[in-house]
Amino acid sequence: TMRKNIVAGNWKMNTDLAETQDLISGLKKIAKTSNAEVIIAPPFVNLYSAFESVKGLDITVAAQNMHQSDSGAFTGEISASMLKSIGVNTVILGHSERRAFFNEKEDLLAEKVNTALENDMTVIYCFGEELKDRKFSEHFEVVHKQISNALFHLDASAWENIVLAYEPVWAIGTGETASPDQAQEMHAYIRKTIADEYSENVAEKVTILYGGSVKPNNAEEIFSKPDVDGGLIGGASLKAEDFMAIVNAF
Ligand code: G3H
Repeated sequence: TMRKNIVAGNWKMNTDLAETQDLISGLKKIAKTSNAEVIIAPPFVNLYSAFESVKGLDITVAAQNMHQSDSGAFTGEISASMLKSIGVNTVILGHSERRAFFNEKEDLLAEKVNTALENDMTVIYCFGEELKDRKFSEHFEVVHKQISNALFHLDASAWENIVLAYEPVWAIGTGETASPDQAQEMHAYIRKTIADEYSENVAEKVTILYGGSVKPNNAEEIFSKPDVDGGLIGGASLKAEDFMAIVNAF
């Protein structure tokens, strides 16, 4: 396809400074045979060190979150320009844990997306239904809203800097993955949603990642689906061998 394949590791609130450096050294030792772009997202405090450590490697460093304002009295927060100043141009927004534990809603996420794009950053926008939504067969509707509320105000051209990450909440950190067919079904639906709102061209170009208990033993089958363009990896991104096995599943 014309799409970029990406495997991104979301380290969440794991890895101190020494562990960040160890994990990156582990990634260095493992030959990359895949065509996928590799992204890692360490915690904020270790982004600078990670950025320095990946120099010369084909790895992009991303942030796990970001504030929507440029600067100011927002104690404890991190801005786009701070990230850019240390070489970080990619940010994960809307992760289900941000939604669930920090009450991030789509109106806020739309602001964060705008700020990231104004700062020429790439956004990995996460969304996905909860188990109850799937039980009531509302998963397509929920996903539609999560995408449209946060992203449909954008111009078609902005989509060049948007990566989508479908993460069914019931599959995150549970060891239970969506089946490859369930992932494909939703990814095809997402792509059609983008095509209906924008164009086939925009939809064909957008990279859609699957996240939720992707492991070395299931990555290949999930990634073989035509609308699955890669993965957002949590737990398995914390072990260099596992992460590189997933990267090399492409
Ligand atoms: O951002 C990553 C996802 O939340 C998936 O996490 O691979 O540990 O299920 P997991």
